[in-house]
Amino acid sequence: MLALTLDAGAHLRDLEPWHADEFAAHVDRIRDHLKPWIPFASRIYDADGARDLLQRFADKRAADTGRFYGLWLDGELSGGTLFKEFDTASGVCEVGVWLAPWATGRGLITRAVTSMIDWAVGERGMHRIEWRTDPRNERSRAAAARLGMTREGVLRSSFVIGDTRFDTEVWAILADEWRGQRTRATMASATASGA
Ligand SMILES: CC(C)(COP(=O)(O)OP(=O)(O)OC[C@H]1O[C@@H](n2cnc3c(N)ncnc32)[C@H](O)[C@@H]1OP(=O)(O)O)[C@@H](O)C(=O)NCCC(=O)NCCS
Repeated sequence: MLALTLDAGAHLRDLEPWHADEFAAHVDRIRDHLKPWIPFASRIYDADGARDLLQRFADKRAADTGRFYGLWLDGELSGGTLFKEFDTASGVCEVGVWLAPWATGRGLITRAVTSMIDWAVGERGMHRIEWRTDPRNERSRAAAARLGMTREGVLRSSFVIGDTRFDTEVWAILADEWRGQRTRATMASATASGA
């Protein structure tokens, strides 16, 4: 199975229906950490529920409208990333992320999403990459800012978990902005290494 190495012992791979047992156990283990922010933490309680979500994304992948990746750290499923939406007609996609508490603070999401945006912009011609979050989710907002995204505004009362409605903050980066940022980072690292 193909894997993208993010760091020593950290790999990003497709998370597929055959991972249902492992994914259900992972969600169960970190449910309290995810529940305020991630809808699937309130929906997945067993392997059948996990399989339903993973199959939905396998279908989206086949239709080229979404993707779902798992992040394994030292062999344990410890988070993931997704293209929640991937619309090649409009050139707009939306990224989502989560990590287990023990995997945070190492830049794994920054690296994983950087690779995803490189692929979306460089290989798939995407024009706009969105990140949607609850405005109270400081860690998520910091991750979007770290990726160079711009905070565009708030969609009031637009998101429902259970019986409760929440605002959604929209962040995004455009393809030209991404390419400029990547070029500047490459030049800065070449200067730092004396090349
Ligand atoms: C949102 C979430 C994924 C962010 O995790 P994170 O660990 O902050 O993000 P990253 O993996 O990019 O790591 C960044 C952190 O690692 C540090 N870091 C270390 N090495 C780094 C590197 N090479 N590159 C970037 N950051 C690095 C950064 O300083 C930062 O830590 P800090 O915020 O204490 O300064 C995590 O808080 C989470 O899973 N929350 C619950 C689910 C959730 O809210 N998902 C988003 C819904 S919209």
